[in-house]
Amino acid sequence: MSRKLFVTTALPYANGPFHIGHIMEYIQADTWVRFQRMRGEEVNFVCADDAHGAAMMIAAERAGVTPQALVAGIAAGRKPYLDGFHIAFDNWSSTDSPENHALARDIYRALRSNDLIETRSVEQFYDPEKGMFLADRFIKGECPNCGAKDQYGDNCEVCGAVYTPTELRNPYSAISGATPVLRTSEHFFFRLSDPRCVEFLEEWTQNGRLQPEVANKVREWFKRDASGKAALADWDISREAPYFGIEIPDAPGKYFYVWLDAPVGYLASLKNLLDRNGVDFDAYLADPALEQVHFIGKDIVTFHTLFWPAMLKFSGRKIPDRIFVHGFLTVNNGEKMSKSRGTGISPLKYLELGLNAEWLRYYLAAKLNARVEDLDFNPEDFIARVNSDLVGKYINIASRAAGFLSKRFGGRLSADLGVEGRALLDGLRAHGGTVAELYEEREFAKALREVMLLADRVNEYVDRHKPWELARQDGMDSALHDVCSVCIEAFRLLTLYLKPVLPALAAQVEAFLRIEPLQWADASRALGHHTIGPYQHLMQRVDPKLLDALFEAPAAAATAAALPPPGGEDIAPQISADEFFKVDLRIARIVSAEAVEGSTKLLRLTLDVGEGRHRNVFSGIAAHYKPADLAGKLTVMVANLAPRKMKFGVSEGMVLAASDADEKATPGVYVLEPFPGAVPGMRVR
Ligand code: 2FM
Ligand code: ZN
Repeated sequence: MSRKLFVTTALPYANGPFHIGHIMEYIQADTWVRFQRMRGEEVNFVCADDAHGAAMMIAAERAGVTPQALVAGIAAGRKPYLDGFHIAFDNWSSTDSPENHALARDIYRALRSNDLIETRSVEQFYDPEKGMFLADRFIKGECPNCGAKDQYGDNCEVCGAVYTPTELRNPYSAISGATPVLRTSEHFFFRLSDPRCVEFLEEWTQNGRLQPEVANKVREWFKRDASGKAALADWDISREAPYFGIEIPDAPGKYFYVWLDAPVGYLASLKNLLDRNGVDFDAYLADPALEQVHFIGKDIVTFHTLFWPAMLKFSGRKIPDRIFVHGFLTVNNGEKMSKSRGTGISPLKYLELGLNAEWLRYYLAAKLNARVEDLDFNPEDFIARVNSDLVGKYINIASRAAGFLSKRFGGRLSADLGVEGRALLDGLRAHGGTVAELYEEREFAKALREVMLLADRVNEYVDRHKPWELARQDGMDSALHDVCSVCIEAFRLLTLYLKPVLPALAAQVEAFLRIEPLQWADASRALGHHTIGPYQHLMQRVDPKLLDALFEAPAAAATAAALPPPGGEDIAPQISADEFFKVDLRIARIVSAEAVEGSTKLLRLTLDVGEGRHRNVFSGIAAHYKPADLAGKLTVMVANLAPRKMKFGVSEGMVLAASDADEKATPGVYVLEPFPGAVPGMRVR
């Protein structure tokens, strides 16, 4: 009987494209899933966009779109990454789906019936200008410990101090710049402190479902009182409107905190898939044989080892069977990825440069194990592993043998193979079990090491028998035929062992060998009398220049590669809200506009900023606007710019206009005009 597996990767936030860390996690999970499928196991492998939360709402607002449109836009860009790296999810959904709304509310109602939800008053910072409560990350101020400016509400990036937002000195809203005020509201809590939850989780986290280092870490979170009883803190699961999320049943204006409905998205995506396939969701999950497996990063362990299993358990649902935690991807000996230094790896750039996705799959697999260890991407190591191992040891076997087989034997394989050849192949087959166990245990590095050792054996066999010499000797046809046939059979076995990591290459090999898609059971079979197709080159070596291009700093890379900077120039260095608010932007009415005698560039504008006087401003837009087209219009001006004495008079401010730094790319200058309703003197912020 085959196993039934429900496998997920963490749901990525829907406010940005994938980074290389996502791709690593997906490759790890995809490799494991492909292995299971090759064994004939039944797998549903799903993911979704994590759509909700304050960050999403604010990002959408800044982009001037609805959160739904923001999420849809990001989702629409997912495919090239997933296809490009051969990541074969069965479904990609969103936590804003109807399935997720319904499931999250059902789970909540069940927890409430189970007496595990309670409400409490919570005092929290509120942005009076924006009319919303502020999450810790949207409050900034001076660190109470070292006084560093512009620190977030939860910890100081300068001295590392951890504190609550109310401890910040001179706090301000990172959204509006306003000074936040403390306000009380009712919050909903999941009573994780309930002895039923604590007892369940203590057992569940310590009974072999988690990696040992994860189980040890989790154990520390169960605090014990003097009598030795374990305790957990209750979990605040609600947020106040305005919030992009799922409304809490019977609590208008209250929403589930994004982390409550995010993991429910695993089930929602599964349901979405099963519904489409006509499979009953509840019956599927009710099967006691079903194994539920979540691949996640080490930063989100709490959510997956405490909150999520407790939510499922106490809403009467199936609980996860395994949580597979991985470390982070670092670049060049643990150097933190930094965009400005160019040490990050952009997955899309990787593909656009023409680097083979399976080089990365192979390289990552060659370094991945079952522990929670960070994995370092090192370019030299990458080149060495791909060129020496993957191409040098494995691909070479086929290229050394296939030519002789086509030219001399019409592609027909010999079924005899000789004693030594048979022994070699038996040896390769005998290792299939070990390789399988290593895949199962997510010890991919060890699995690939094993396969490369087998490839070494095959290459030694080739070196001993020297087909290129046999080909030149008379009467050695049959020996040549056997040796090359052994090589092809060995190559088939090695391809099978590598297929979870290299699915596209394996498909090419299957076409070349003219065989059905390789399954794990095919390891114990032999090709026998069989005719293969002509050999076509299967994989290039890495050109180190490609990696140089991948790692170039973005500014330099921009000229070499495809994307120019937006608007023809790079975004200026970051400034704080404080710095921004020093610029006083106001709505101004253009009372009149006239040409300036002696200047082809300037127009003289008379502006009304609601001050009871007019301002004189020179603007370099004469080539783009006729004075008559400007008079009477509203625009935006910098109202506190120091007056400048010019040849034609004093300019008392500056009118805002858009242009591309590279006028050839997008010609023209465009004066800003506010939406209807604005009046002179209004501040622009
Ligand atoms: O950390 C993150 O990127 C979250 N979006 C992961 C959510 S995983 C699951 F719970 F949905
Ligand atoms: Zn500090």
